[in-house]
Amino acid sequence: MLKDKRIILGITGSIAAYKSAYLIRLLVKKGAEVQVVITPAGKEFITPLTLSTLSRHPVISEFFSNRDGSWHSHVDLGLWADAMLIAPATAATIGKMANGIADNMLVTTYLSCKAPVFIAPAMDLDMFAHPTTQQNIDRLRSFGHHIIEPTEGELASALEGKGRMEEPEKIVTLLEHFFAASHTLQKKKILITAGPTYEKIDPVRFIGNYSSGKMGFALAETCARRGADVTLIAGPVSLSAKHPKIKRIDVESAEEMYQAAIKTFPEADAALLCAAVADYRPETSSADKIKRDDKDRMTLHLTANKDIAASLGALKREGQILAGFALETTDEIRHAQEKRKKKNLDFIVLNSLREPGAGFRTDTNKISILDKQGEITAYPLKSKQAVAEDIVNKLETLWI
Ligand code: CTP
Repeated sequence: MLKDKRIILGITGSIAAYKSAYLIRLLVKKGAEVQVVITPAGKEFITPLTLSTLSRHPVISEFFSNRDGSWHSHVDLGLWADAMLIAPATAATIGKMANGIADNMLVTTYLSCKAPVFIAPAMDLDMFAHPTTQQNIDRLRSFGHHIIEPTEGELASALEGKGRMEEPEKIVTLLEHFFAASHTLQKKKILITAGPTYEKIDPVRFIGNYSSGKMGFALAETCARRGADVTLIAGPVSLSAKHPKIKRIDVESAEEMYQAAIKTFPEADAALLCAAVADYRPETSSADKIKRDDKDRMTLHLTANKDIAASLGALKREGQILAGFALETTDEIRHAQEKRKKKNLDFIVLNSLREPGAGFRTDTNKISILDKQGEITAYPLKSKQAVAEDIVNKLETLWI
């Protein structure tokens, strides 16, 4: 499972750094490509020479190479990886990661990393149990990261307790299991709509909405990472899709999104309709910029756009799965369930605008999933990435 997998191994300043040498050996033996990024404190515990010899790659620690002054791109590195593993992760690094304190190469790489992140804490028992550390760990967990719990035993401080970094063999097995699960959507073709639509009024104006596209892009990344071929039909957003298995089609209006979706759907095994499609567009759009001309009032005549979800729902064939979103402000469950039925969706993801941190323009979301069987599952507030995992898990259950 680890053959040809590209793994960034972050090493920080803990006595457990000696275990990183074994970790690299095991990963390399399994066919993984390992790039070590070490913090300055990490180098006090294990030498870069040991690590580069075992990983067969120069170790990265600084933003610039000391030898020739060339720049180490944390962005490229972050995008290169199939996984990032921080082992050992000290309380300080965990705190920096949880709060975006990007003052070293490891944390900047982490912030640029689109791949799944695994964190193996190692520290003294009291440091680990401290509410600050626990809150930081909870925060990292809410981003969808995998925390590899430390074990109990004798610690460097000679005290006994929970804080020992998990053994390298166990960490490697965990990664193997993770990558095995990442093939769950192999050979599936998934259509995703994301972002807002812009309905043109004249060459400089449009009717739009606040959708950022983040939820749809997170879904696309999650499906692609699990092996699916994704077609992402995106309205105007300022996001980029990184995964090579995502084919992106950029559209502007609801009509363009409809055309692209109708064309793609027959080949798809599932469609996740995340876009905030404008329900109406101006009846006519002016070729020239509309002048104010000192008018006190201005009337726009609107006409209804096609309902993409309902149209795909009508076309849906046996075995295809269709899911949509509902953003409601009143009587949420009833409205969402009605919407699901009307559009012939297999499940609908409800987010309420009344929930702080949920909905448009946030990095977090709080959802409930309502399915055809009438089952309602409510999830806690999570990052959109972690929410995407929950939604794709639900999708997978329908194929089992
Ligand atoms: N949707 C769509 N095409 C449209 C409108 C909505 O595909 N023209 C999809 C959205 O992507 C979402 C679901 O339908 O998955 C629900 O969208 P929403 O705007 O909440 O539904 P509407 O049918 O427009 O209902 P409302 O009256 O609440 O606006």
